[in-house]
Amino acid sequence: MNQSEYIKILRLARTAIEEYKNWGEDELVLDKTMQVKVSVAKEEKKEISKNIEQSEQKIKKQKKEQMKQQLKQEPVKAIQSKNAEQKLEDLKKIIVNCKKCELGKYRLNAVCGSGDPYANIMFVGEGPGFQEDHEGKPFIGRAGDLLTKIIEAMGYKRETVYIANIVKCHPMKNPENPELKGNDRPPTMEEMQICQPYLDEQIKIISPKVIITLGASSTRALLKTDDVISSLRGKFTEYMGIPLMPTYHPAALLRNPKLKKDV
Ligand code: SF4
Ligand code: URA
Repeated sequence: MNQSEYIKILRLARTAIEEYKNWGEDELVLDKTMQVKVSVAKEEKKEISKNIEQSEQKIKKQKKEQMKQQLKQEPVKAIQSKNAEQKLEDLKKIIVNCKKCELGKYRLNAVCGSGDPYANIMFVGEGPGFQEDHEGKPFIGRAGDLLTKIIEAMGYKRETVYIANIVKCHPMKNPENPELKGNDRPPTMEEMQICQPYLDEQIKIISPKVIITLGASSTRALLKTDDVISSLRGKFTEYMGIPLMPTYHPAALLRNPKLKKDV
């Protein structure tokens, strides 16, 4: 037999032994050399089961660690939830008594905001209108109904987001007459600047993942720009380190439904 024939036979033998190992056999006693090979297999098997044992222990340890972390987080969550609600309530008490700007003199109700204190998405509108001023809640008129539909089209529920305005009191063309319909006007830059710390505080408390400004007023105030909303909308910027997306105000969509597609 020449060398290459030997090698062939040895290769075949090796394959046969491998298969034998795969059947789960530990020992194959043929002659001394073979026994050595198979006992190597035995060592390998030991090594494999040691590895399995080690990784099982590692997984167990990781699971235990995860459980520990979860248990740690639960009470923290509970405390946090108490805090954000409480903090928003405390802020509300300040806002309803605020007279820092002229709007405070004539409003019927200060409108602080509504929704989930832990919302991921926060909408910021312009300011309360006639109906909001009467009921003390944001976005409850026709524009509000449309906003609710937009939120639902995004796959959320109104209660799971947070809705606020850049000013908390009703800006009126004729402030002497809050009972007059069609008396709404946009807030001035000065009114927005005076009121903005309340919104900043709300953002700090809620800590949303994204802020959506509705319309030119809140977008311009937060981004400190005079640009038109049609050029600002649809582009992410940042406010207080949070991604901010400006879009059209729902009232603009009621006037011009063609803009709905962009929103
Ligand atoms: Fe105060 Fe804002 Fe109302 Fe002005 S609009 S009175 S700053 S809460
Ligand atoms: N428009 C706004 O900008 N905010 C409201 O709360 C209602 C209408």
